Amino acid sequence: MAAVEPLRMPPLSDGGDEVLTWLKRMRDEQPLWADERGVQHVFRYDDVQAVMSDPARFSSNIGRVMPGFDPEQVSANLASQDPPEHRLLRQLVSQAFTPRTVTGLRPRIAEITRELLDAAPEGEFDFVEHVAHPLPVTVIAELLGVSPGDRAFFRSCADALLGTRAEAVSAAEHAKALAEANKELQEYLSAEARRRRADGSGGLIGALTAAELDGRRLTDLQVATFSGLLLTAGHITITLLLGSTLLALRDNPEAEARLRKDRSAVPAAFEESLRLRPPFHRVVRVSTQDVEVAGGVIPAHRLVMASTLSANRDDRQFPDPDRFDVDRRPNRHLGFGHGIHFCLGGPLARVETEIALNLLFDEFTELEVTGEPAFHDSEFYGPKQLTVSARR
Ligand code: HEM
Repeated sequence: MAAVEPLRMPPLSDGGDEVLTWLKRMRDEQPLWADERGVQHVFRYDDVQAVMSDPARFSSNIGRVMPGFDPEQVSANLASQDPPEHRLLRQLVSQAFTPRTVTGLRPRIAEITRELLDAAPEGEFDFVEHVAHPLPVTVIAELLGVSPGDRAFFRSCADALLGTRAEAVSAAEHAKALAEANKELQEYLSAEARRRRADGSGGLIGALTAAELDGRRLTDLQVATFSGLLLTAGHITITLLLGSTLLALRDNPEAEARLRKDRSAVPAAFEESLRLRPPFHRVVRVSTQDVEVAGGVIPAHRLVMASTLSANRDDRQFPDPDRFDVDRRPNRHLGFGHGIHFCLGGPLARVETEIALNLLFDEFTELEVTGEPAFHDSEFYGPKQLTVSARR
């Protein structure tokens, strides 16, 4: 008798072609699936949304089932908090990281983007290396108020944390580099928080140290952890979204022609890109009890992966889901998450992407993706290298 192949999610390194076919099959045939490690996966839009909407039964604190997480770090990290602590922490950081902060950054985002486009080589270049990667890390450094002399250090921490360094390294070397970069970054940001608390100097780090609610303030560790979270959550996601949007335009030249003529459609275009290629292709939770979902039961204390990529392609929610449709209304994609952990940096991501796309169209009369892109194969989804040929 032939052995039954265990089901496995295909790699993302081909840009997702195989994964998308697999996800559709899972949505249709096995909407709740436990992999060989017992990790539970859900795929349909309604189920993914339900997991994200229920922090009491689906906790964000994965330290509950994965030993090795420093409990002090976990309790300082907004993304791994559950109610009621999450609410207070989110309210405190939201006092400092406001829509006004983001609007105030507009002119600098445009300036940084222009400098990067001016510095890009003539003809063919790697769009990720020259534009999509440096733009968000520079913006976050400015947002936090990292001094220009420390930017190179800050950027090297980001590269190490996000695994975007060019050299091929073993898994053990990678884990070591990651732990070192995390420690260095935490030490640096904690020292910055202490300094600003003492001298009252500014930037978002300064504003975070000053935020107060019902007499409670953020600790230096919380300020440093949130600042580090901004760097990881708000960097590669935008890098990927920019690259993925160029791929969507490569595949839909009529959409690019339209956007070049009608710039008011640019925001709808990157929302659609975010739906089709969400940079975080899944979110992770831990079940706190047995939970009925997707026609089955997720046992207590299991890791749960809710696939935003699959949800965003579910034809139960989106008509003609694989089509890049700039006129799609409504477009309730889950690319920024859902519920209490809904992306806090959404406004910044939207502003940055809108400015970058508009300036790309202004600067280059032609912008063509050439050759085959290289893709991440990790918790991130999107191109890590994307050669374009550009004409000014
Ligand atoms: C949360 C996606 C940009 C800061 C999230 C979540 C997603 C997401 C899916 C929810 C995670 C979960 O439920 O477990 C994205 C995408 C971005 C982006 C696709 C860009 C295209 C940014 C930026 C920042 C940022 C620019 C800030 C500079 C955060 C923070 C959280 C978060 C702080 C945690 C919120 C909480 O736990 O309450 N993001 N993000 N993100 N994002 Fe973003």
